[in-house]
Amino acid sequence: MLDDAFVLRTTGADAPEASLPTQPCVMVVFGASGDLTKRLLVPALYNLACDGLLSEHFALLGTAMDPLTTESFRERMTADIKKFHTRQEFDPRVWDDLVNRFHYVPGAFDDKALFQTLRAEVKRLDAVVGAADNVLFYLATAPRFFGLLCDNLNEAGFKDGSGWRRVIVEKPFGTDLESALKLNREVLAHWHENQIYRVDHYLGKETVQNLLAFRFSNGMFEPLWNKNYIDNIQFNVSEAVDVQGRGGYYDSSGVLRDMMQNHMFQMLAYLCMEVPGSFEPDAIRNEKAKLLQAIRRYDAQEVGRYVVRGQYGPQLDADGKIAKPGYRGEKDVNPRSKTETYAAARLHIDNWRWEGVPVYLRSGKALWKRGTEIIVEFKKAPEVIFRGTSVTGLSPNRLLFHIQPYQGIEVQFQAKIPGPRMQLQPVNMRFAYGDAFKASRYTGYEVMIYSCSHGDATLFSRGDLVEAAWRAAQPLLDSWAVTPAEFPNYARGSWGPKVAADLIAKDGRRWHEVVTGEVLKTVPLFKDGDALFLEAVIMALRSRQVASGDLIIKKGDVGRELYLLARGEVEVLDDVGNVLKILRDGDIFGEIGLLMSTPRTADVRARTSCDLFVLDKADFSRILRDNPQFAKAVQQVAKDRYDVNVNHQALIAPR
Ligand code: BG6
Repeated sequence: MLDDAFVLRTTGADAPEASLPTQPCVMVVFGASGDLTKRLLVPALYNLACDGLLSEHFALLGTAMDPLTTESFRERMTADIKKFHTRQEFDPRVWDDLVNRFHYVPGAFDDKALFQTLRAEVKRLDAVVGAADNVLFYLATAPRFFGLLCDNLNEAGFKDGSGWRRVIVEKPFGTDLESALKLNREVLAHWHENQIYRVDHYLGKETVQNLLAFRFSNGMFEPLWNKNYIDNIQFNVSEAVDVQGRGGYYDSSGVLRDMMQNHMFQMLAYLCMEVPGSFEPDAIRNEKAKLLQAIRRYDAQEVGRYVVRGQYGPQLDADGKIAKPGYRGEKDVNPRSKTETYAAARLHIDNWRWEGVPVYLRSGKALWKRGTEIIVEFKKAPEVIFRGTSVTGLSPNRLLFHIQPYQGIEVQFQAKIPGPRMQLQPVNMRFAYGDAFKASRYTGYEVMIYSCSHGDATLFSRGDLVEAAWRAAQPLLDSWAVTPAEFPNYARGSWGPKVAADLIAKDGRRWHEVVTGEVLKTVPLFKDGDALFLEAVIMALRSRQVASGDLIIKKGDVGRELYLLARGEVEVLDDVGNVLKILRDGDIFGEIGLLMSTPRTADVRARTSCDLFVLDKADFSRILRDNPQFAKAVQQVAKDRYDVNVNHQALIAPR
């Protein structure tokens, strides 16, 4: 029989009883009446309490301008936790115990008297709960208050005492290099670097932390992790949401500041850094810093060559009316804003390991899907040995880290199709977090609070890291400030601006769009497909973007591709250029040439910018043969659309 420890490990159950609770402390939250506190901090504290990971010797002292009392603060938090807790069931006993340890003092951050009151209150609470004189300051405020808060805490004598003092600072840490340097000077004027914990909530994500575990606990990957075997790396952070009413903040930020310089660079550092000597916080952070310092700082010309930006436009309904506003029509956004809501870049990491390996980053708002993925594409195997077989080309091996919302890791490779002949099909092996571990019910902030209370800074950014990230980002900001932007340049709900596809196409590559079975099932042709069929289609799809007016199919050409229109409109034209029909999202086209092996029978042109999936003839034929129901559906499309009868037997006969 398996012993308990083994069962626990293999089912992935976390064993909270095996972990120590947080260290005793009074946590002072500046900005306690704000969004972050109710959405993330308090739910995280509640999760820790539910899992027995919050010390009994804990009290929270909230402060902000809002004129609340301890009672009304507790009431407000109690109403909010019902909305924002992340567990399946709410446990009122745990909550009551927790909320009774919450206290509140109102005040303005520039009022010195507030800090005297806080000092006295911390002392009192420390005596009540036995917090060993440890104080954690959580600055959940706008960055412009960081310096002032640090000064006032210092003046109020908070540094004195026998316990530890730690300061958690929320992002954004600066808005450019200069402000980040200033902020570091201000914060470090009274505290040591090892007392400052700069939050980047991506480091709280299990799938991001797992990048390190994956790289350094599995011996088979590290030997391949370099320019000799890796062709390129792609980081993709797509958000389906728009600015969600945060126009005021976002318009002075943009995606480079909001996502790339911090969250994406953190993931980049984990994925590409050198092997640290240990898992000690500074051993890891030293390597991260070195990696960020190795990102090439572009001159203005290089920015033009390697970086593109975008801004979303409105969504139009069928009558051409605005259904949803574009970015410039959002609340609190300048109607002539030049702020980018999308960016894509090719970075160069100028070090021994990565010299010459393109690292592509892209992120944007109001895109077709929410999905964060990292794709490591390996160099292709030599194709030459397949000469004389029916194998026409090899796909590269890929390692995919699915960060969110789907969480998993996937390896893509090719396998022989069962049968007497040598034929290959791209296939994959996938590890899904949900299959191996209990689903994570954490917000990501639990581990931050927990680590900080134990003095473990691994998951927090360091002053030099933040500065290195700004040094790499600053040339982009400088260049964009003085160059015109042709905005808006992508439609809401699309894959992003065409310039991003062109950026990577210049290098002879394309973005790897991660599609799921759920997405594919929204296409009528695939809606009844079983898992095996959908997987075969997903593995074979390539992405392509075209601009409005581009000719996609030319009459008379020999067809090699089937197109699936993910978004946009195309028109099928007759010989004299009259529009025969218009195809829209979810439609396929190009099937006749493939089904009948005849030249293309009509021109197809993009009426709008379009996002397309492309299926090559070899894959199309194979999928048709293996999936008779799909063959029937495609036949039906041909019949309905062009009144063409395709012989079913001929279609699925083995070749
Ligand atoms: C925040 C940004 O830091 O991260 C937001 O300010 C963004 O604009 C968010 O939406 C994304 O975080 P997540 O965890 O949803 O990927």
